[in-house]
Amino acid sequence: MTEPARIVVLISGNGSNLQTIIDHTANGQIDGQVVGVISNRSDAYGLERAASASIPTKVLEHALFANRQDYDESLAGLVDTFEPDVIVLAGFMRILTPQFVRRFQGKMINIHPSLLPKYTGLNTHRRAIEAGDKEHGCSVHFVTEELDGGPVILQAKVPIFEDDDEQSVQQRVLEQEHRIFPLTVQWVATGRAKLINGIAQLDGNPLTSAGYASD
Ligand code: GAR
Repeated sequence: MTEPARIVVLISGNGSNLQTIIDHTANGQIDGQVVGVISNRSDAYGLERAASASIPTKVLEHALFANRQDYDESLAGLVDTFEPDVIVLAGFMRILTPQFVRRFQGKMINIHPSLLPKYTGLNTHRRAIEAGDKEHGCSVHFVTEELDGGPVILQAKVPIFEDDDEQSVQQRVLEQEHRIFPLTVQWVATGRAKLINGIAQLDGNPLTSAGYASD
């Protein structure tokens, strides 16, 4: 039997996605173990979630570093100490240097609250509402050097209704994040999802730009 995957999760805040990943490892729906949680903010609530699950935590405050390069070098060293098979960015709100991304390419996935390639960056829910979009959603993708732009593995769509506000849409999207993220982590942890020559594959089949089963 192969060893369960070693998963490191990077966070900056609430950590609801971290929680769902922890829960799925605990109930066996992810064949892996969260071996460490790293936050760039000491006040991230996700650190408490990790501690409650007896998962080692580290804080690496970006404010203490002169520049992005230095920070990312330290971060990479810290990530390596956990010897991860999978690195999960779960609300880690930092742009990563190309060096960092290259070091972990193929092992690192991110969740983003939009139907990529739409709305990279911040305030995605507000931007979707303001644009009059009738649907919105979330994407899990391999992390590449392009900001929020790596190959998508899985997306989930939600409707936007007339009387929605930013908060109601965010809540609706977050519920879907909690469904697709653990599933994708499982696919990467078990080697079903791979990044081959810049293209995401599932079970050896190349995925479309919207990932698996976009509709
Ligand atoms: C999630 O909505 C995630 O998609 C988003 O941050 C939130 C974190 O929530 N990530 C990004 O915007 C990355 N570009 P959580 O801390 O409760 O998991």
